[in-house]
Amino acid sequence: MLSRCLLAIAVAVLLLTGGNTVRAAEIESSIARGGRLYDNWYKEKKLDRPDKPHAAYPADGKYPKQSWRCKECHGWDYKGKDGAAAKTDHLVPIKGITGAIGKDPAAIAAIFRDKTHGYGPDQLNDKDVQDLALFVTKGQMDTAKFIDPASGKPKGNAAKGEVYYNTLCAGCHGLDGKKVSTGVPLGQAADNPWDMLHKAFNGLPAEAMPALRSLDPSIASDTVAYTQSLPK
Ligand code: HEC
Ligand code: HEC
Repeated sequence: MLSRCLLAIAVAVLLLTGGNTVRAAEIESSIARGGRLYDNWYKEKKLDRPDKPHAAYPADGKYPKQSWRCKECHGWDYKGKDGAAAKTDHLVPIKGITGAIGKDPAAIAAIFRDKTHGYGPDQLNDKDVQDLALFVTKGQMDTAKFIDPASGKPKGNAAKGEVYYNTLCAGCHGLDGKKVSTGVPLGQAADNPWDMLHKAFNGLPAEAMPALRSLDPSIASDTVAYTQSLPK
């Protein structure tokens, strides 16, 4: 009797955790995709960049051509005007999105169609909006854990990062970070560690680059720390 009871419990636990694993996997890849859409949705979707600057982008902003990308208004560290962008010419007087962490994804999804944002279904369809809302509510990393906000110095362990880089990234980027001829050397990209961290966690729009977000966060963090020493 007892053993049958235990068996029933074991089966129930297996079914439950098995089911959860599938759902967790779907959610995790939606979040990563949301992160890539946040980076550059038209590149991820292989669409043309909209011609006109985004209506909410300030007229005196320095990067009107990038103005439809979420990151251009809300930053690579998700802190908008109060974050790392404040020290660069990408600064615009727009707040960050960290206040949306933990909110209901459906409520956040509605924001992308509001008057301020105005993304049409031909730009972001319902699945895109859903993935973005999952990223915003559940996927934002606290970048201050990985990069010192004041100095911009990554906090990871660069020696460990070298091992991760050489095995996870060098196949495409080369040991010196210069093998992908279409992009800048990674040693140069490392000048913006927040951008690098976002890409390491979520992957690169429309490229086969891995998204490390389901691994222990120290792996992306250590890798980003190591890229600081790659040649420019
Ligand atoms: C051209 C600039 C611009 C772009 C691009 C932009 N936003 Fe916004 N966003 C704003 C402004 C302005 C607000 C309103 C801020 C306020 O209420 O003061 C806002 C508010 C938000 C908020 C609510 C933040 C809060 O706590 O109230 C979220 C979430 C958000 N945006 C996410 C996104 C995402 C995701 C994208 C990309 C699909 C995006 N935004 C693209 C300008 C932009
Ligand atoms: C499957 C191949 C592949 C792997 C593996 C890969 N990448 Fe990439 N990555 C690319 C490609 C292709 C590009 C450049 C695309 C372009 O032209 O913009 C790129 C671009 C980047 C960029 C943007 C550089 C720029 O131009 O701004 C960063 C940052 C980056 N990779 C980091 C990494 C890190 C960190 C790893 C390891 C965790 C990694 N990549 C692994 C293919 C890869």
